[in-house]
Formats: sequence, C-alpha cells, structure tokens
Amino acid sequence: MALTSKTIQTKPFDGQKPGTSGLRKAVKVYQEENYTENFVQCTLTAALGEKLTGSTLAVGGDGRYFGKEATLRIIQICAANGVSKLLVAHNGLMSTPAVSCVIRKYKTDGAIILTASHNPGGPDADFGLKYNIANGGPAPEGVTNAIFEMTKTITSYKVCPDLTVDISKLGKQEFQVDGRSFTVEVIDSVSDYVAYMKEIFDFGAIKGLLQGSGGKPPLNVLINSMHGVMGPYAKKVFQEELGTPASNTVNCEPKEDFGGLHPDPNLTYAADLVKELEKGQHGFGAAFDGDGDRNMILGQNAFFVTPSDSLAVLADNLECIPYFQKTGVKGYARSMPTSGAVDRVAKKKEKKCFEVPTGWKFFGNLMDAGLLSLCGEESFGTGSDHIREKDGLWAVLAWLSVLASKNKSVEEVIRQHWSQYGRNFYTRYDYENCESAPANKMMENLGNFISDSSNIGKPFSSGDKTYTVAKIDNFSYTDPVDNSVSKNQGIRIIFSDDSRIIFRLSGTGSSGATIRMYIEGYESDTSKFNLSPQVVLKPLIDIALNISQLREITGRQEPTVIT
Ligand code: G1P
Ligand code: ZN
Repeated sequence: MALTSKTIQTKPFDGQKPGTSGLRKAVKVYQEENYTENFVQCTLTAALGEKLTGSTLAVGGDGRYFGKEATLRIIQICAANGVSKLLVAHNGLMSTPAVSCVIRKYKTDGAIILTASHNPGGPDADFGLKYNIANGGPAPEGVTNAIFEMTKTITSYKVCPDLTVDISKLGKQEFQVDGRSFTVEVIDSVSDYVAYMKEIFDFGAIKGLLQGSGGKPPLNVLINSMHGVMGPYAKKVFQEELGTPASNTVNCEPKEDFGGLHPDPNLTYAADLVKELEKGQHGFGAAFDGDGDRNMILGQNAFFVTPSDSLAVLADNLECIPYFQKTGVKGYARSMPTSGAVDRVAKKKEKKCFEVPTGWKFFGNLMDAGLLSLCGEESFGTGSDHIREKDGLWAVLAWLSVLASKNKSVEEVIRQHWSQYGRNFYTRYDYENCESAPANKMMENLGNFISDSSNIGKPFSSGDKTYTVAKIDNFSYTDPVDNSVSKNQGIRIIFSDDSRIIFRLSGTGSSGATIRMYIEGYESDTSKFNLSPQVVLKPLIDIALNISQLREITGRQEPTVIT
C-alpha cells in the first residue's frame, strides 16, 4: 500500500524530564492533543538522530489502558520518520525484560516501551513511555536529557495517519511510505523470551523440583501475575514447560486496569499472595509487577524474602545455573539503598561489588564492560547480564534453581545464609503521595544536616541503643566505565557500626512526592535472627524520624507501605 506522511505543527510542551524509567503521567495527560505524538517525536529524534532513517525498533507494553491506541500512533509516527522496520508485540503485550531480550536478539536500534511499571492502570490512572537503547537497557541520562531539551523546542511532528496495522495478527505487513518501504512484523515475544530462559536455566532440574523426584514430594508453587503482562509468560513457563497445574498460576489474564489493583509486588499490594501462602499449602510464592521486571519471593507460610537477601542468596549460589557455569561470575552490584548483604558474599568470593544510584540504567555500563553478572535493588528488582533490565521471571527461575540444587525450603536457604554471613536487617518506609513542598523542605533540611560536619561523631539514642554518626553525605556516583558523575542520589547517614539511614524522593511516582526512608542494621548475634526487622530496627527508625522531622514537616504519621 502506498502512503504519504504529513507534518503536523505543534508547540513545545511540558514534557518533563523522563525519570528513572521513562515519562510517567496520568493517562489523561497522554490523551491530550498532540501530547503522545510530541513525546514520541522528541524521543525518536533525540535518541536516534541520524540513525533514525532506516532504523529498526521494537514496540511493546504492559497492556495497560491506552496502550493499543498509543501503539498505533507510534507505528504511524515511526513510519513517517523513515524507520524501516518495527517489531511490534502481539496485541501490544511485551514485558519489559522481554523487550530487552528482543532488542538484543534481533539487534534492533532501540525500543519504545509502553508502561508505567508498578503504577495502577485504567482511564483514571497512569501511562508511560520509555525508551531503551541498542544494548537493551533504559536510555542513559544523556539521552533522556536530550529528549527533554527537545520537548522545549519542538514545533512539528511527522505522522502517517492513513497507516493501519492489525497487531492481533502475527507476521509481516509491508507498506510503502513516501516511496520508502516500511515493515511491521508482529512478533510473539513470549516464545523468544521463554526460549532464552531455557538456554539459561536447567528446566529439567526445576521440573524435578516442581513435580517431585527421587522420593521428594512436588513443590507446590503459586505464581501471581497481578493481571499484568506476565500472565502469558508465566503460563507458558509453568503450565507448558514445567507441567504445573493451571491453579498454580493465577491472575494471568492481562487487564487494562490490572483488575483495579495496584500491580506492585510488595507485602501491601500483593496481599492476596501473602494470604494464600499463609495457609501453608504452597512452598513457594511469587508475584510480578505490571510490566514484569519486579518480583517478590515468599516461602511456605508467607516467609518473606527481603529483596536484598534474595540478591545475596542468588549471589552465593549462581554456580548452580548453567548460564553462569558458561560465563563465570564477573562481579556483583546493588543500588545504594539496597542492603549490604550481597557485599558480604562478594567479599567471601573475592569479587567486586559495585554500589550504584537507584535505577537499573546504572547497571548497563558495568554489564557491557564485562564487569557485572548479577545485580539487584531493594525495590524488588533482581537481574543479570543476560539482558539489560531487571527480570521478575528470571529471578523466580533462579530461586527455583537454587532450591532444586540445595534441596532445601526457602526459609531454610535464608536461615542458612544468615547463619553463615549474619543478618542485614532492613526495612523501607514509603510515604506516597505527599505534598511536594513539605517533602522538598524536609530534604532541604536533611541537606543542611549533612553539610554540617559538626554532626560527625554525634551520638543519637533511642531506647537502650546509641549510634554514633560516622559519615554523612548525599550519595554521588562516578561511573567507572564512562566516568559520568551522578550527584545527589540520596541522603546517607551512616553510623560507626555501619548501620544506615537513607532518604530520597522517588523519581517514578506520577503525582505529588513519595518519600522513601531506608533503614539498615547488621546483626551477627544468632539469637536475634528470629526477631522482626521492625523490632530490631525500631531505635534507628525513631532516630531517622527525629533527625528528618518527617512527621512534623509532612504531617504524615505513618507510611503507606512498609517493606
Ligand atoms: C523505584 C525504585 C527503584 C527502581 C525504580 C524502577 O524508583 O525505588 O529502585 O529502579 O522504581 O522500577 P523510585 O520511585 O524510588 O525513584
Ligand atoms: Zn516494572
């Protein structure tokens, strides 16, 4: 079909700087006239420059409301901008880790992902667009800054309004646009992704664990896809490949509003999974977020695996996974607020452990440089250098590989880990949807606290505990590969026993401000391992609230989510 493109006049707009994971806004904003078109044009021009003409890109998303409409718009804009080929997700559905896998497998120049990750979906909720580069990872700051700069100057965008594509039909559809050929190939990313998982893991060993073998009873699992994009992937892996009954994979129908739920796998928003696991009938439970990059792992009776501990346990056991037998373990990394449990494993194994700012994009350079195999964040993100995004289902398969090789339950594996390394008690308090002005004020006060060097050496007491301030700063990171510097990545108050209090404002929320307070304290006394982190960390929590004056300044007495 021969088609022609049009140039539509537009105006600079409030594009806002894309945060750690793209530009997330209320869907209503994306529906405003030209908003989506403007942002897509800025993304293509700023991210690809001269490479745009003749490029190949992938497009897919988490299935949320407005995704299909936006996908069609993206196809029309790509066609008009001289892109030569688009790999489009079947029905628009492609998890974020699968996008990363597809970029790398088909060597595309990048991808546009339609997601607001773990934020709610639906006509009154959120939408987002994110750009990933040719290595499969989120666009680095240089690219997101360039996109933002262009939102301030854009005057027109190009579109091919008569082009229509049926994204429910797999296969190639060819077009002629302005005399150039333009191909849309609708792909089934579930097969590509699952084929890759089968190269990475020993599916036979995992199947033995789930089905029971050598006299061991089957491990009864419960995988909750939270009505996000992961349903089809979970069904294919668990039902088709590993032969578990359909009842073991729940909430697997992707829904535009995630069934009205908040698709974030934590103890608050995945309470359904927690309740089911508390019944004691399952030995392993997991949930994913809307776009499938986050994971939460639970053991029998809802034994909670802190993401920081999950990372440390995987770090200690990577050798049981065929992929790492081949590649070797190059190094580890964690985001700054993530607990230091993985550092202890790295030390024992004499490997490097990098501490980077929050956000997956910082891991990509280290992976590309061959310095990093496994990394994670306290925010339910775990992944490896098999792709350049965190990967929820990969983490679940990694855990099942560890359980199969150790022949132990989730709780036994964690307890054994603590007895070997000690326990990094950890908790995170989220104060979501605060008013911005008081939240900024509190951060400003904390900024003053850390710039006052007379605070170093000061004791802070609560109950029978006294902590002495050893180091205060706003975390700054110099990327060892490209030497780029990222400043002001979080206020740190570190005490002489290595306990830490950290404050930062979320970069991914879509309304108001979200304050995150992270608390960590290390314990080697085995008699304390059974205590709740809320009990062990109470004195540090009180000190953090006291120093920050969080309650007084924001008026918020309790956090919305405790992890
Ligand atoms: C949050 C998490 C962070 C994660 C990001 C994207 O960012 O804290 O670890 O990389 O989501 O999933 P934040 O809202 O804290 O900026
Ligand atoms: Zn996500």
